[in-house]
Amino acid sequence: MTDPMTEPDTLRLDLGRRGYGIVIGRGLLSRAGGLVKPLLRGTRAVIVTDENVGPLYLSPLADGLEAGGVRTSAITVPAGEQSKTFAGLEDVMEQLLDQRIDRKTALVALGGGIVGDLTGFAAATALRGIDFIQVPTSLLAQVDSSVGGKTAINSRHAKNMIGAFHQPRLVLADIDTLTTLPHREVVAGYAEIVKHGLICDPAFFDWCERNGAAVVSGDPAIRQEAVRRSCAIKAGVVAEDETEQGRRALLNFGHTFGHALESETGFSDSLLHGEAVAIGMIMAFDLSHRLGLCPGQDAERVKAHFLQAGLPAGPDYVKGMRWDADALLAHMASDKKAADGKLTFILTRGIGQAFIAADVAPEDVLGVVSEAVAA
Ligand SMILES: NC(=O)c1ccc[n+]([C@@H]2O[C@H](COP(=O)([O-])OP(=O)(O)OC[C@H]3O[C@@H](n4cnc5c(N)ncnc54)[C@H](O)[C@@H]3O)[C@@H](O)[C@H]2O)c1
Ligand SMILES: [Zn+2]
Repeated sequence: MTDPMTEPDTLRLDLGRRGYGIVIGRGLLSRAGGLVKPLLRGTRAVIVTDENVGPLYLSPLADGLEAGGVRTSAITVPAGEQSKTFAGLEDVMEQLLDQRIDRKTALVALGGGIVGDLTGFAAATALRGIDFIQVPTSLLAQVDSSVGGKTAINSRHAKNMIGAFHQPRLVLADIDTLTTLPHREVVAGYAEIVKHGLICDPAFFDWCERNGAAVVSGDPAIRQEAVRRSCAIKAGVVAEDETEQGRRALLNFGHTFGHALESETGFSDSLLHGEAVAIGMIMAFDLSHRLGLCPGQDAERVKAHFLQAGLPAGPDYVKGMRWDADALLAHMASDKKAADGKLTFILTRGIGQAFIAADVAPEDVLGVVSEAVAA
């Protein structure tokens, strides 16, 4: 018997000719061929994955694609940000050319956000642009990075500085793959789910307060709902502002602070992206409160929820780290979001009411950061 709760959900990201479906459900890898084949220009796909995800899901996905008439080959990259570099891109690109891809070949990104960003950028540039499909396997990738067409590699200056907007032809989020994702990665991905509520959907934040524990602990139906609602929010924002001329920047809520924290830890395992974003969102609430924009109770409510879900709420989470507020501010000032000495931040008037502020004084930011690192 199929539980009706676990039937796949299909959303659409409405971008005219570049629009695509986002399918969220269980057992999707084995059905991938039927879903993917009609979208392909040819009959060939190269699956790019990493060395953690490949051993778990490459065969089931390849079998699922082959069963639908898609011929596959694979490229496996090392896990981690080291693959999201010029060297990592070169390696993938030369292997694609070794495999004699043509312009009808599609790439399939099987993995977390790192594989997705790298594969998407490879697809944007190989042979001046070929199709690609996202098969996200981390919670972060399912709720965030696989949707919206931002692809990139890192520079030694900063993360994600070299990239392209290149929309996938389809996103297949198989909830079952989350069962093997390390718990800490699940919790980190959950931060981006909560982010979507905090930006523009207070009812979804309420839902997170009631269901966050079930998302983190692994209830598949609740996970599917969390992924669906997150993707729906993100797809709505991206459909309005594909290339981030305005509103899409809301999705960076907590990220200017978060990126600064990640830079200071050298993007090491001591602080995962989602964890950094959680701390960054708390700082954004604290800054908004300091500027008289947002009630203190809202900041407290978010903090309480993060702690309950197992997310960090402050930089003291990173054990043994001696934070330097000035160094953090310097990272933020060099972030691509800065202009004219003033800093652009996503601030909030309360839960679900984020907005873009282009005129934040560095002193106010320094005040909040100094308090956070002293705590
Ligand atoms: N393009 C965007 O819009 C966007 C948005 C947010 C984040 N990002 C990028 O995403 C990246 C982070 O993504 P991430 O958190 O998914 O990291 P990740 O790709 O490193 O995946 C996390 C870890 O989990 C492993 N893994 C993934 N799925 C698994 C599974 N099902 N079972 C077992 N292990 C699994 C991976 O091998 C890795 O070790 C960053 O580079 C960030 O810049 C991009
Ligand atoms: Zn993020």
